Amino acid sequence: MKSKYLVSFFIISFFTSCSYNSEDDLIEAIIIEDFVTYEANIKPIIDNNCIGCHNSPPVNGAPMTLTTYNSVVEAIENRNLIGRISTNDLSSLMPFGGPRLPQNLIDLVIQWEQEGLLEN
Ligand code: HEC
Repeated sequence: MKSKYLVSFFIISFFTSCSYNSEDDLIEAIIIEDFVTYEANIKPIIDNNCIGCHNSPPVNGAPMTLTTYNSVVEAIENRNLIGRISTNDLSSLMPFGGPRLPQNLIDLVIQWEQEGLLEN
């Protein structure tokens, strides 16, 4: 009988310690990884793929700059930025003339918009 109680005790404490760990991991994951921000995630994508034309001032016929948080938000809200990077139609695709961005980067921009266009 005594050893049965002992086994139950170990099983219970094993599960208890396990659930504490995963709760910590979950909180950490939400804080550190889940929210997409302009500074951490979006600015590097724009800098690497768009600033060649959408610089300040814009060049190569680009109609606006994308060098600041406000200008990128404005392009999302009023210039169909997400549609222009997501399309399969090469004549309207951005970056202008292609190639299309890798899908994981397009998905990051979509997630950023869905989470409320956080700056940092
Ligand atoms: C090689 C130059 C070039 C690059 C690189 C480029 N663009 Fe453009 N972009 C243009 C030109 C030229 C236009 C205007 C013609 C048009 O709308 O197709 C334009 C238009 C746009 C528009 C529509 C603006 C409006 O008012 O209708 C958006 C949004 C846009 N670009 C976003 C981007 C994004 C985001 C990137 C990077 C992923 C990017 N562009 C990369 C040249 C470029």
